[in-house]
Amino acid sequence: MTGPVPELEERAIACANRLCAADRVLLASHIDADGLTSAAIAASALERAEIPFETVFEKQLDEAAIAGIAARAYDTVLFTDFGSGQLDVISEHERAGDFTPVIADHHQPADEETEFHLNPLLFGINGASELSGAGASYVLARALADVADATPATDGELATDGGTGTGTGATSRRPRTDNRDLAALAVVGAVGDMQASGGELHGANEAIVDDGVEAGVLETGTDLALYGKQTRPLPKLLEYATDVYIPGISNDESGALRFLDGLDLELKDDGEWRRWAELTADEKQCLASALVQRAVSRGVPASKIDGLVGTSYVLSAEPVGSELRDASEFSTLLNATARYDRADVGLGVCLGNRGDTLERARTLLRNHRRNLSEGIDLVTREGVTHEEHVQWFHAGDRIRETIVGIVAGMAVGNDGISREKPIVAFADKNDDDVKVSARGTHSLVRKGLDLSAVLGEASRAVGGDGGGHDVAAGATVPTGAEEAFLECVDELVGEQLGSER
Ligand code: C5P
Ligand code: C5P
Ligand code: C5P
Ligand code: ZN
Repeated sequence: MTGPVPELEERAIACANRLCAADRVLLASHIDADGLTSAAIAASALERAEIPFETVFEKQLDEAAIAGIAARAYDTVLFTDFGSGQLDVISEHERAGDFTPVIADHHQPADEETEFHLNPLLFGINGASELSGAGASYVLARALADVADATPATDGELATDGGTGTGTGATSRRPRTDNRDLAALAVVGAVGDMQASGGELHGANEAIVDDGVEAGVLETGTDLALYGKQTRPLPKLLEYATDVYIPGISNDESGALRFLDGLDLELKDDGEWRRWAELTADEKQCLASALVQRAVSRGVPASKIDGLVGTSYVLSAEPVGSELRDASEFSTLLNATARYDRADVGLGVCLGNRGDTLERARTLLRNHRRNLSEGIDLVTREGVTHEEHVQWFHAGDRIRETIVGIVAGMAVGNDGISREKPIVAFADKNDDDVKVSARGTHSLVRKGLDLSAVLGEASRAVGGDGGGHDVAAGATVPTGAEEAFLECVDELVGEQLGSER
């Protein structure tokens, strides 16, 4: 059987064979939406292939984290959604015989190579826009299903306990699965990494979407491209949607209500507004065209208005009105767990746990939303400092370092925060170190911007480390080194965008 991404197939099979040869595997993943979905995909695939495993999450895969992983004394370590950028350190451990790494990642690789390295960038596929960590993990999961199918399970040592050790299963035949049902999680990961640029997923991601649709776990359609279609009552959906700013509706509570009042939409029995997902097709059509009309009449440029419509990715098994039904809302829910030290909750949700686990996640989500909104307000109110080629702010301890990048990305376009320059955000990590997050746009990338290279070089110049993608990258630098770091960043970005002083 061929996998969803032909370019990656051979490497994926090699990685899958290596995993099948392992007695047990340590699965290590990143603490964000893409990392959690990566872990859930890999965990499901390992479990179905009856390979015992244990899962750990790391905020950042630095030398200490890798040393900790090596100390766990697993012969095989599967890294998902990170590992490529740390190949230099990982390879040292491999050469020392600490473990064999298998990597399913999409970040810019460090200057090293290893045998079981599955990364779209090695095969001419864009890791920032065409395949996420969850996508790479999905390609691996599909290969694992093929490979495991061909190798009969041995009696006795079967993992039946979700991966925390070696269980004793009663069957010796694995259930047949092609793992296509895991495509829905891969789409959540890609959307969570902002790969749905221009309103839809592209390239290898599209093949995964097709798999999900075929497997019956995903539905796609042209739909309003606003955040909160499943969970926000209509007035809030419109008021909070500011990516395409419609005067008199966006950020305008009573304006949004007046607009809706003019449309004759029925309210619910309790007098509350319905949510977008609860409207009939006709009602959706009517609301969408009224919204477009309003935007046109208020002078919103056509190119912006296009952004009101996009492709929706709906997880068909989830109930209408649940944040798990919409890939974008699902990914935010996951960030709300993992970026607050509760990756276990997010992973549980991905693996199908509901009840208390989902309630816990929803509580974390309310907290995350409040933090995002306060963070965006703070940055917008206090403004950014403009250098020649970049703009920046330092949040100190006022924004959590794990979400300062999301806040920076969401604040771009607000008053005084330009779309024409990358934004660089600082937040305290601990007494010694500062976290840096940088975000650009695809249009700057087309002009030559590569934030991964910039943050890597500038952070190392001041004794830190960093990397990521061309359009979004991060780093850690020693406290006090911010100014020297920024100077270097500004210069490097200037060189990339071809405007050397
Ligand atoms: O570590 P990872 O690859 O999962 O994180 C990618 C990060 O880059 C996410 O926080 C995502 O929101 C951000 N990103 C962005 N704009 C893009 C692409 C990615 O802000 N166009
Ligand atoms: O948190 P995350 O980066 O996953 O959010 C993805 C996108 O969802 C954001 O860029 C933003 O447009 C939207 N969002 C929102 N309101 C929130 C959380 C996320 O509009 N409270
Ligand atoms: O942390 P943040 O959301 O800003 O990360 C943006 C991107 O940079 C992510 O893909 C993340 O994995 C990557 N990154 C990295 N090395 C770091 C920090 C972040 O590769 N030290
Ligand atoms: Zn990722």
